[in-house]
Amino acid sequence: MNTIVWIHGFPLSSAIFEPQREIGGVRHLMPDLPGFGRAPAVPIRSIDDYAHFILAVVEERQATYAGLSMGGYVCLAIARLAPERMNGLILLDTRETPDTEEARKGRFETIEKVRQQGVSAVVDAMLPKMLTAAAPQAMKDHVREIMMSSSAEGVVVALRAMADRPDSSPVLPDIRVPTLVVVGEEDSITPPADAERMAKAIPNARLVKVARAAHLANYERAGEVNRAVEEFMGR
Ligand code: MLT
Repeated sequence: MNTIVWIHGFPLSSAIFEPQREIGGVRHLMPDLPGFGRAPAVPIRSIDDYAHFILAVVEERQATYAGLSMGGYVCLAIARLAPERMNGLILLDTRETPDTEEARKGRFETIEKVRQQGVSAVVDAMLPKMLTAAAPQAMKDHVREIMMSSSAEGVVVALRAMADRPDSSPVLPDIRVPTLVVVGEEDSITPPADAERMAKAIPNARLVKVARAAHLANYERAGEVNRAVEEFMGR
């Protein structure tokens, strides 16, 4: 049985993948990254450090790696550092390009805010972009709860790691495994143009755009995304 290793985004935890447990016929591994959800913070300085953390907790010689947003950055680091460990790749609402100078500056400003005001500073700013305005209130409340479970230390470390992440564009043409790229049509954090560009650059990629979904397409439109993943895994 194949294993899918689900790597969550920022500032989230593995709880965001709860709806993906419905996907049958595969084993699911859903670790929390250090400093998020239930995982204690351990020294992390880069996206590569998260990739090494994930590779160390996955016992399987090979697995399909699925990354949501920041988790996608980690997946692309795994594709570069340990391609022999990957037999499939799922990129969810993410991008391969690094931060612009402006975005980097914003990360460091956010770090200062989190130090002064705590995790709610980043949660309040990001929550409206995670789901469409039409998402049920219960969904919005649950996503807020997941975001608030992040530790301030974990958030600061991740912001620094994302600000300094390398350009993964050169990795894409070398990805040899079947790849599924998924994006919410209303994602304003990593818009559909990012997904289209990645799907074009990866030799064996399939692109699925999900209507009535924003950044957390896997959560807001779990039925559509799960169907796409099932089809992809049954390839
Ligand atoms: C995420 O959802 O993981 C973040 O929005 C990614 C980012 O801020 O670049």
